[in-house]
Amino acid sequence: MDLTIRPRRLRGNAGIRALCRETRMSPDSLIYPIFVDETLQGTRHIDALDGQYQYGLDSVHLAVEDCLAAGVTKCILFGLPAKKDAIGSSAWDEHGVVQEAIRRIKAKYPDFYVITDVCMCEYTDHGHCGVLHDHDVDNDLTLEVLCKETLSHAMAGADMVAPSDMMDGRVAAMRKTLDDNGFENVPIMAYSAKYASAFYGPFRSAAGSCPSFGDRKSYQMDCHNRKEALRECALDVEEGADIIMVKPALSYLDVIRECSDAFDLPMCAYSVSGEYAMIRTAGQAGLIDEYKVMCESAVSIFRAGANILITYYAKELAQAMKKGDIG
Ligand code: PBG
Repeated sequence: MDLTIRPRRLRGNAGIRALCRETRMSPDSLIYPIFVDETLQGTRHIDALDGQYQYGLDSVHLAVEDCLAAGVTKCILFGLPAKKDAIGSSAWDEHGVVQEAIRRIKAKYPDFYVITDVCMCEYTDHGHCGVLHDHDVDNDLTLEVLCKETLSHAMAGADMVAPSDMMDGRVAAMRKTLDDNGFENVPIMAYSAKYASAFYGPFRSAAGSCPSFGDRKSYQMDCHNRKEALRECALDVEEGADIIMVKPALSYLDVIRECSDAFDLPMCAYSVSGEYAMIRTAGQAGLIDEYKVMCESAVSIFRAGANILITYYAKELAQAMKKGDIG
């Protein structure tokens, strides 16, 4: 054969393959989700998310130590409060679970980067992401409580806040609250295109945030839509978001691609609990190689255009990157 062009030349060995990788990742891009339970001492295994734990305030530093040992330097905090009520008032308690967790982490590890999930669903007794009016979440009333929650997180020392509620106008409202209170340097990472997804199932049992009636379809996005994702991102950019996010990740790679092409902000993807659970369980059943599928899935998210990834596999992925298996 008289072949001039032979693509296989660049695949001949591990060295040349690593040289020609088009997608580059590092542990710096990874964020690990940490669940803190105000009523817990020590740690508790999350059965719905095998290999993941809830931490008491007395032991949240252990989660951080594991991250640092693996090369992960950033987390996103989720709180399980001791008390819930109709408006989720423990969400903005100065001594609430997330606020105290931030203080404990920062006291020991001031350089560990702490992002907080800003949402009401873990704090309301009905499990919806805001204040109800009749049987639906009232957008504008919810903005008020989200701003209080945001401010209390910033005052406790959060490095970044991440609204995950999908209310209209929350980024502008949070930006104004932060700026008016001297927190103009605290960035907002907006869950911009967050879909109403069945992939959140394990998270809701881990965070105790399952809605007691109905679903989240009146505020989270319909999975059929892609232009709406561009519109949601555009709104968040206009309102002052510093980082935009698409969530879930694996079933929305097309949305990650379109949004990362359309906007010049850093693009985060959240590989959610159901994605982790699928890979984990299929691996444990011996049906797939968990490590390899974890690696390939993470690469696909970065290849789609994300440059930040929130994942329950953050520690294992950081190790895989250090070894050079990916990245
Ligand atoms: C809301 C929130 C959810 C997740 C992150 N923030 C759940 C929801 O919207 O019901 C899901 C994360 C996951 O599934 O891993 N506070």
